[in-house]
Order: sequence, then C-alpha cells, then structure tokens
Amino acid sequence: MPWELTIWILSVLLCMVLLTQRWWEPKLAKQGARLGGGGSWRWYLLGYPVALVRVPLTWRKVCRVLDLDIPRRPRYSMMNRDTMVAGTAVRGLPPRLGLPRVTRFGFVVRVHLHPGQTPAAFIAASDALVHAWRVHQVRVTSPRRGMVDVVATGYDPLARVESWPTLPTPRLLAATLGKADDGSYWTVDLRTSPHWLVTGATQSGKSTLLAAWLTELGSQRVILVGIDLKGGMELGLYEARLAALATDREEARRLLTALVTELMGRMATCRAAGARSIWDLPEGARPDPVVLVVDEVAELFLVGSLAGRKEVVECATLLLRVAQLGAALGVHMILAGQRFGSDLGPGATAIRAQLGGRICHRVNDEQTAVMTLGDLAPDAVTVAQSITEDEKGVAVTALDGQWMRVRSRLVTPDELRTHANLTTHHVTAPFLDRIPDGSGDRD
Ligand SMILES: Nc1ncnc2c1ncn2[C@@H]1O[C@H](COP(=O)(O)OP(=O)(O)O)[C@@H](O)[C@H]1O
Ligand SMILES: [Mg+2]
Repeated sequence: MPWELTIWILSVLLCMVLLTQRWWEPKLAKQGARLGGGGSWRWYLLGYPVALVRVPLTWRKVCRVLDLDIPRRPRYSMMNRDTMVAGTAVRGLPPRLGLPRVTRFGFVVRVHLHPGQTPAAFIAASDALVHAWRVHQVRVTSPRRGMVDVVATGYDPLARVESWPTLPTPRLLAATLGKADDGSYWTVDLRTSPHWLVTGATQSGKSTLLAAWLTELGSQRVILVGIDLKGGMELGLYEARLAALATDREEARRLLTALVTELMGRMATCRAAGARSIWDLPEGARPDPVVLVVDEVAELFLVGSLAGRKEVVECATLLLRVAQLGAALGVHMILAGQRFGSDLGPGATAIRAQLGGRICHRVNDEQTAVMTLGDLAPDAVTVAQSITEDEKGVAVTALDGQWMRVRSRLVTPDELRTHANLTTHHVTAPFLDRIPDGSGDRD
C-alpha cells in the first residue's frame, strides 16, 4: 500500500540522518576500549524503525504496569452518599520520554524523572523493558540528576564467535581481549587496573581468555611468568615465551619468592631515585614489567598433608605480598579459577581484595558470581548467572563499580603454541637467575 511505502521510506531516511549523529552514542563503561566494527544493517533498517514506533507506543502501558508513573492528581477523597471514599486517580502520568536515538547495536532513550522518582525503580524494571520492547538487553544509567538513560541493545553482538590475529598494542601492558556488548573492542590496561581475577565453571572459557591475554602481552616487552598446577596443561602451550612456568607447588613457591625478592629490589631502586613507581623512573633505568598468570588458582590452596599446609600458607602470603607491592612496581597478576572464596583459606579473601579487576564467566552457583562481582557491581551478578552453557567465552567484567558483558577472542591451542614460538626470547628476566638451582622452571 502506498502509505506503508511512504512510512518505510521516511523511516529509512530518518535512520540515515540519525546514523550520522555520532555524539548520540552512549558513553558506556569501556575500560579504555577503542571503538571498532560497525553496526548491522538489519538493525538500522528493520530493528530500529520498529523500536522507534514501539517504544513511545508502549511507554504509557509499561509505566502503569511497572509502577513507573505518578498519580495525575493528588489522592482525593469524596463523599458517596453517607460514605467517605478516598483513592488515587486511575490514569497515571508517566515520566517524559525522549526520542529513541539509534546506536550501532540498539538505541538509547532518555527519561525525565518526576520529582520524587529515583533511577532505582527503572533499574529494577530493566528486565520487564527487555520483554516489552523485544530487545536483547536493557541497561539503565543516570547521566544527570533527574534523568535516566535507558540503553537497549537490539541484538547480542557477542553471539558470534570471533577470532582475529593480535592487534597492534595501544600501549604497554594494554591488551585487547575481545568484544564488548556495545560492539566496541574490549581492552584491559594493567597499568590502570593492575590485578585481575577470572572465575567461571569448567569449560566456560577461562583458559581461552588467558590465552588471548597472553598472546597480546607476549608481543610486548613484558616478562611473562606462569603457574599452572594442573600439570602445566594450559600454560604449557605458551611455555616457549614464558620466562618461568611452575607446575607444582614447590616450584610455585620458589617462583613467588623470586618475584618478592625482585619487588624488594625494585622498591630500593625507586626509593634511591625518589620515584613513587617504576613509571616515574627514566626509561633506561626502568625494569621491564612482569605479569604473573595463574591458571586453576585453587590448586595452589588445596592441601593434603600438614607439610602441604605450611607450603600453602607460604604461597598465599607470597601472593598477597606480590599483589600489595606489585601495582606500583610493575608486577601484575591475573588469577583464574573456578572459584576463589574464603573456603580456600584465610589468605584467599585478602588476596581477592587486592584484585580490583574481575571477570566472571558462566557459573554453576550464585555464590561464585556474588564472590566475583558482588562487592564491585551487585547488579552484574544476575547478568553473570544468565550466561548459558552455549555462550562459551562470554563473561561479565567489573571494574570501579561499572560492568559490561564481554566475549573473549577465540585463541586455539595451536595458535597459542605458534605465537609462543614466534615471540620467544622477546625479553629476558635476569631476576629469575636467582631462583635456587633445581627449580627446573627457568626457560
Ligand atoms: N571466546 C570464545 N569463543 C568461542 N569458543 C570459546 C571461547 N572461549 C572458550 N571457547 C570454547 O570453550 C571451550 C572451553 O574453554 P576453556 O577456555 O578451556 O574453558 P575453562 O578453562 O574455563 O575450562 C574451548 O574448547 C573453546 O573452544
Ligand atoms: Mg581451563
């Protein structure tokens, strides 16, 4: 019918105009992400025009059902024969809704709150809005007092498995690990967030994420050391590039001791030079940064004997010292495990408190999600729990109270091994020469 065609053409034209409005892109938590990739034409031509009509049309009803509107008139009372009737007008007044503005993967719509309303009610309504607007995900942020931005994602940009060769380094210690759910690259910079905890059930994608991280850091002038107490099955693939790999607890203890000794040396250097961190030292005098990667961290804490318990306490104390001192002295750590809670021992909670960056893959129990994200971003816990078994590599990451859904780049064991062989001898670690003889963990 001609009028349908007219509406269609107008919608397409409107989309074209909106597409050019880059400043409308919502500023989500990006952890330093660079924008990458484009949106889908299906979304621009089909999804967005439908949302443009659906959102304003459903707004009044949605607000009434979700209790987001306010009474049009104050509570009233009236006489009905001999009876006094008190009540609230049925028709409510919904908060003013702006025009849904297109983004590459969805839209963002601004809501002007009525006096007395808070963003909390809208955050709680996110799930209902997903169904009402038939979008993939809704997040609510409050950019200014009295306003909320409802950021909807039309479809899941993380549904596709992605794999690409390592990207040029944005800066030393920064690594592009995958994609975020707003379509941007997911980049983590260890200089701004020095230590990370990665959790998730078996087969959820932890080791693949570590592989992506290692291949990014492996191309840089960074000393990489690993602890993999599951016989080195995962990190062993990258052994050619690692300066040291510990595969049992005794080796781990020796490696951690060497790291703490190195930290003491770096501290003395900084003190002598009047520097507060190694980054304040002149370039020639600055030691290379070290990244310690631990896979299946719980193995480090499991004890079978009394002698083993002493070793565990020693390892936990050394890990804690590395975490506490390492940030300013260029020694970073990434710990991955199925869980990392107080049940592993008293040291685990203290170490976790030092790990400011968190990544939570699919979990089997609520407790692990709470333990990983609960203290930093409580509303991310349910999102982490909703990751399904098919979504391998999908995770929720939290940093500084902000969170986002991400998916790591797929790095196969072959790619990891090849990359290690290509980048071997990239950087030397003189301090590891001081590991006592017989450690067997030197490259
Ligand atoms: N980002 C990803 N995209 C696609 N597949 C992935 C991704 N991450 C992991 N996988 C798949 O999931 C499987 C398990 O991953 P893995 O990293 O070994 O999990 P975990 O270390 O948590 O047990 C791997 O075989 C891998 O192919
Ligand atoms: Mg693993």
